[in-house]
Amino acid sequence: MSNNIKKIGVYTSGGDAPGMNANIRAVVRTAMNEGIEAYGIISGYSGMIKGDIIRIGRKETANIIGRGGTILKTSRSKEFHHSGARAAAFQNLKDAGIQALIACGGDGTFRGAHALCEEHDIQIVGTPGTIDNDLYGTDFTIGYDTAINTAAEAIDRIRDTAGSHGRVFIIEVMGRHAGFIAMDVGVACGAEFIAVPETITNVDILYQRILKQGEQKRTIIIVGEGDELGNANDLAGILHDRFEISSKVTILGHIQRGGNPSVRDRVLASRLGMEAVYALLDGKTDCLIGEVNNELCLTPFKETWEKKSKLWDHLIKLSDILA
Ligand code: F6P
Repeated sequence: MSNNIKKIGVYTSGGDAPGMNANIRAVVRTAMNEGIEAYGIISGYSGMIKGDIIRIGRKETANIIGRGGTILKTSRSKEFHHSGARAAAFQNLKDAGIQALIACGGDGTFRGAHALCEEHDIQIVGTPGTIDNDLYGTDFTIGYDTAINTAAEAIDRIRDTAGSHGRVFIIEVMGRHAGFIAMDVGVACGAEFIAVPETITNVDILYQRILKQGEQKRTIIIVGEGDELGNANDLAGILHDRFEISSKVTILGHIQRGGNPSVRDRVLASRLGMEAVYALLDGKTDCLIGEVNNELCLTPFKETWEKKSKLWDHLIKLSDILA
């Protein structure tokens, strides 16, 4: 390992995810262990452009491993799409003496990091922080496990009332372009139908599944927000207009992004935070560090958006057979 890195920066960017704090803590404490100073960049790329950079150490990362959100805050910076803003950000990092960065976020975060690496003399390693689990280069993203458990708990509650009243419920879960959350919680909650962007949603089959519920009528339909037929309200409209079926719509929304991270997310975030520091010390840059089959895996940033994380076939089959 090379020892010429004396100062590293860490930031969170894009949608927050439970476990980001555990990731920050691991980065900071591993850096300290290696005699490296750690700096936190506030609000991701927005703070980098403004030079909003603070020194963080043991005290700042105490008592955060189990907290949701991100102590460093986050943003989706449109400004950072411009090379001028990236040059200003780099100058701020240089002024602070920061030679390397760890970026926790999703593919938008890594697009920004890749551009910064290409244009300026800075090393960056990414850790996968998004509830959507849609990143190529890791089996699971930090925050996903917590999000699916939060969603499952909410859906179990809806199932109770749906059963009492004999109602059809359409529940929308997050996952902008990916159906991982929908598919996992749909199977886990015994949904009668799961609509995801990766497969064609067939409303005739959905109608048959509702009929199959017979007398009890309770039907749980899970819709991933990126489904090609539209969102939960659109699907409710289709059911009403085509089959005269009325339904109740629940959008779980940002509830899925908050809350204390699960044990799995805390451990994943901690491992990848530590290994990201070692990867930087090993000279790695412009890449994501993830876990594939429990092994560490480095993937060039570019591949994280150019290649697609595939929805698990076995879950698609399982959901169809058990519905
Ligand atoms: O990328 C994570 C995510 O939670 C998506 O599932 C969702 O579509 C999006 O962020 C919502 O973003 P925002 O909080 O900016 O509305």
